Amino acid sequence: MKVAVFSAMPYDRDFLGEANRSSGHDLELSWFETRLNTTTAPLAAGHDAVCVFVNDVLDAPTIERLADAGIRSIALRCAGFNNVDLDAAHRLGILVTRVQRYSPHAVAEHTVALILCLSRNIHRAYNRVREGNFSLQDLLGFDLQGKTAGVVGTGAIGAVVTKLLLAFECRVLVSDPIPDPDCLAAGAEPTELDDLLTAADLVTLHCPLTPETHHLIDRRALSLMRQDVMLINTGRGALIDTLAVIDALKSGRIGSLGLDVYEEEGDLFFGDHSQEVLQDDTFARLLTFPNVLITGHQGFFTREAMQRIAATTIENLAAENLAAENLAAANLAAGPSGRTTST
Ligand code: NAI
Repeated sequence: MKVAVFSAMPYDRDFLGEANRSSGHDLELSWFETRLNTTTAPLAAGHDAVCVFVNDVLDAPTIERLADAGIRSIALRCAGFNNVDLDAAHRLGILVTRVQRYSPHAVAEHTVALILCLSRNIHRAYNRVREGNFSLQDLLGFDLQGKTAGVVGTGAIGAVVTKLLLAFECRVLVSDPIPDPDCLAAGAEPTELDDLLTAADLVTLHCPLTPETHHLIDRRALSLMRQDVMLINTGRGALIDTLAVIDALKSGRIGSLGLDVYEEEGDLFFGDHSQEVLQDDTFARLLTFPNVLITGHQGFFTREAMQRIAATTIENLAAENLAAENLAAANLAAGPSGRTTST
């Protein structure tokens, strides 16, 4: 099976290459550093599958081009799948897989790292001490113990975050259409979103990005939140209306903001732009606030998570290959009207 790996960074080559060797599947992997989109889709010609990441664009036109290029399957090496038009894939008989639960701890621990860094101003202290400034002025933090935390989404990641926050002796409110029973058994309280936003000292987002959750945190949601609230987003950038959040930062309603994801991250994250003039004025404005901490979508990026992502992706590709072959055989047997399907 020939696989075109898009958005391939050196670490992707290391982890996927090693997983491929040790799996025994012996897939033929080709590496493309560029992101997959309508323009770059023809690069996939001559391959059976593409392997993609969070900022590759798999909208209907791209998937149509992939189908034209002979691609039979798409393997996402991530959990979120908001960047894939699943209907288009289904219509074109292209199989889609993702890596659902590689290491919820990686993202959950990064979430807590952002919370602790902001609650104790570690990001500011780091710079001060390096400049020989040991003044504590304006570095006053707050205890997590006794605070009310609001966790939106108690899936694999949100459930771990909930348990970590309970261990800090926070009161934890959770909002999820189906709250995780283990979280509730551990002491978290199921709460309607508006009530959670009203009561929480810190709000952290762990639901998927869907049409329903797009701009979940908008001007109305922000108006419900407590003065000085800490807002954390390690989910997907567009869960937050960034312009509304900037206004809330300017007015002082938001006490601190921790982001690992950003609405328009596709043009920025995962690359070195340090020698370029930053063109994104919204992102540039975010960087001016002393109470904003941003990491470049690295929540997943631990050795353990990368090993599991790579191993599962290789297994998914091998399974997709088998399924595509079975499908082709079935279609052949069914004649020209044979139907195709996708997962
Ligand atoms: P999951 O599928 O295990 O859990 C998602 C949870 O959100 C489910 O319990 C679901 O019922 C809930 N949910 C759905 N709609 C909701 C709504 N409107 N309000 C509240 N809850 C809602 O997903 P998992 O693995 O926990 O990942 C969550 C998200 O984290 C992913 O969709 C992805 O966008 C993001 N992520 C970020 C990473 C990073 O590196 N920063 C890495 C991996 C995932």
